[in-house]
Amino acid sequence: MSLDQTAAPNVYDAEPIPDAARAEIDRLLSSGDLFRYTAESDAPVTLLEAEFADYMGVRYALAVSSCSAALFLSLKALDLPRDARVLIPAFTFAAVPSAVVHADCIPVLVEVGENYRINMDDFAAKLDDTISAVLISHMRGHTSDMDAIMALCDARGVPVVEDAAHSLGTKWHDRKIGTIGKIGCFSFQSYKLVNAGEGGILITDDPELAARAIIMSGAYEHNWKKHTGMQNSFNHWQNRLPLYNMRMQNLSAAVIRPQIAHIDRRVTDGRANHDYVAHALNQTPWLHVPPALTPETRAPDSIQFNLVGFDSDEDARAFQAAAKSHGISVQVFGLSSDNARAFWNWQFLADQPNLPATRSMLMRACDVRLPARLQKPDLDFIIKALTEAAKATHPTPAKVA
Ligand SMILES: Cc1ncc(COP(=O)(O)O)c(C=O)c1O
Repeated sequence: MSLDQTAAPNVYDAEPIPDAARAEIDRLLSSGDLFRYTAESDAPVTLLEAEFADYMGVRYALAVSSCSAALFLSLKALDLPRDARVLIPAFTFAAVPSAVVHADCIPVLVEVGENYRINMDDFAAKLDDTISAVLISHMRGHTSDMDAIMALCDARGVPVVEDAAHSLGTKWHDRKIGTIGKIGCFSFQSYKLVNAGEGGILITDDPELAARAIIMSGAYEHNWKKHTGMQNSFNHWQNRLPLYNMRMQNLSAAVIRPQIAHIDRRVTDGRANHDYVAHALNQTPWLHVPPALTPETRAPDSIQFNLVGFDSDEDARAFQAAAKSHGISVQVFGLSSDNARAFWNWQFLADQPNLPATRSMLMRACDVRLPARLQKPDLDFIIKALTEAAKATHPTPAKVA
């Protein structure tokens, strides 16, 4: 790649899957052993669970078909009554309120600020006696104030589930995100740090929650015995819980396992890429990358920034078009019709909430993928495209504070 790169980098391709996956995939293809519960022991999915639990420093991990499945099973494992109200941030992916609805619960949306984090005043106001659980989406890997959230929830005995779909490798006060609440959920869908096409995993230290989630994920009959480190509580739950069959299959685990050794490197590279671009964008008065909260060490694979002084949607669209003409696609969350991260498009919700702060953030918040594999010339290309687009399309300087 030349230093004065002229072609736009492809920000959608993933890293190649490590070669180590090939031998195991060949073995599985020749034996046809794809179902996690066929082997008596050491199935790839079981090994993945042990290795991921070890990497995260937790007692239990359950690999499933997606992060959405992990979120659904988490809420089910909490044994919430039908129509339980679950607080979630209003800035997240549509799959998150969908998982809440799927679990027969009602999502209650909390305002999110211009820094993409939960507005703690709105959170405290909405965390009343009607709330049975809290599901914190660390959307795009941005960590909300987990100290304040846990203090408020612990004081009320409200369980917290962390949606860490984009937060693998993020730390809060040196603690791994996903280990702070009762359950943490991660995604292995292709645009995440570990790529299996599709897949998810939930982690917990609570043996009851693990037992319930494992059975409901589809550990029918006595297959729970093939999960390591399990306890007597399975005997109690056997046959008393529905089987939702959201298991992971062996091929996915074979693709994921060799990537675990690459997580720390991807985190370091992704953060360096993000911080390099963030610093450059913050030099222009029209683009602003909000800083992380002090206890947070981020693991970003994309960058979000706000358009400053672009008062009308037309101005924001002009920026988007200019960036595109320079080769970089920018998603302004609130500007595309049907955007799955704009809460007003979640028309499957019974009540359409009024959330002016989140709405106004979404109308000017921009999203660009920044995978860890990008190199400096790629980053410089992106920086140039974005800053030139801002320069060319910002409204009159008088409008810029
Ligand atoms: C914040 C967030 N949570 C959950 C999910 C769902 O993950 P999955 O596609 O593995 O179900 C996504 C998907 O991108 C997401 O962005």
